[in-house]
Amino acid sequence: MAINKVGVVGGGLMGHGIAQICAQAGWDVVLREVDDGKVEKAVAMIDKQLSRAVDRGRMEGAAADAVRGRIEGTTDYGRLADCDLVIEAITEDLGLKLEMWKEVDPIVKDGAFLATNTSSLAVIDQAAVTSRPDRFLGLHFFNPAQVMPLLEVVQTVTTSDEALKVGFEVGEVLGKTVVHAKDKTGFIVNRLLVPYMLDAVRAYEEGVGSIEEIDAAMKAGANHPMGPLTLADFVGLDTLVSIGAVMFDEYRERRFAAPPTLRKMVAAGWYGRKSGKGFYDYSGDKPVASELGL
Ligand code: CAA
Ligand code: NAD
Repeated sequence: MAINKVGVVGGGLMGHGIAQICAQAGWDVVLREVDDGKVEKAVAMIDKQLSRAVDRGRMEGAAADAVRGRIEGTTDYGRLADCDLVIEAITEDLGLKLEMWKEVDPIVKDGAFLATNTSSLAVIDQAAVTSRPDRFLGLHFFNPAQVMPLLEVVQTVTTSDEALKVGFEVGEVLGKTVVHAKDKTGFIVNRLLVPYMLDAVRAYEEGVGSIEEIDAAMKAGANHPMGPLTLADFVGLDTLVSIGAVMFDEYRERRFAAPPTLRKMVAAGWYGRKSGKGFYDYSGDKPVASELGL
């Protein structure tokens, strides 16, 4: 099936990036957020990344304008009606996602495909509340979506071969490395990466090293681009706690459980880089390790 128009629901860390790369691929994009302020914020993030691409000589100014011109920000679900594919990237909360699909599924035209970018929730739980579980799949992008090469395409027991093929084609058009993943909580990457980040928090709680030492060690000792606590801040501590809760609930193994420090940070509103404070404070020129009082 030819894709001409893509809907992206949620314009946060992931949604704005997914909307941008879809528009860069030449597709018209409708980006839905909950209120005008959030729509403006999402579009401003895209503008910032496009300006950066132009400044660095990676994109012509006219091409950036064309990309921007293909993106329509809205709070109106009705604008998704003629999309060929709708990808949700809203908060990692099953209740919110089900509520959203119950509104969106009847609006979007017959024959269109629906996808979730969930990090951890079983895709089938969302597929099952729509009228088209055969046309529902997981499209799991990585943060930042503009840069990270991987796309996990997730097939549920109901996902048709046609829908799976669309997932692979989307990945190909976007220039991603596509990996076929089964609908198992965390898929491939988060099954391995989430326990690693959570264990880094436990190592910090146990006094193995300071925040900076743990990060510096994994950068220099394992050649990771970011240390695990910087990465946790980058993913969003609220999202990480939600992912941990889903994975622990599924597997009942300690390695997936969010440690107390992380849960308390989220309770305090420390969501990581997106809120300006997490394991580091991002208010100055350079991130400074936070005082967590352990
Ligand atoms: N948004 C968009 N593009 C960005 C970006 C952002 N937040 N940050 C960096 N970039 C792009 C820019 O294009 C930049 O190029 P220019 O400088 O020419 O503009 C390019 O990336 C390189 O950026 P930097 O030189 O500033 O920084 P870097 O070389 O350290 O790379 C990084 C930044 C790509 C984020 C790198 O640090 C990295 O790979 N970190 C690990 C990211 C990671 O592991 N992501 C997966 C998280 S888990 C997940 O996503 C799954 C889940 O479900 C939770
Ligand atoms: P985020 O908190 O940055 O953004 C979520 C956005 O969804 C918010 O802006 C919120 O206003 C919006 N939203 C909530 N309900 C909505 C609705 N009904 N309609 C439109 N917008 C709505 O979260 P995020 O990091 O972008 O995560 C989004 C999804 O992507 C989650 O399922 C998450 O697990 C997944 N994911 C996150 C990462 C990551 O590294 N952060 C990576 C891959 C996948």
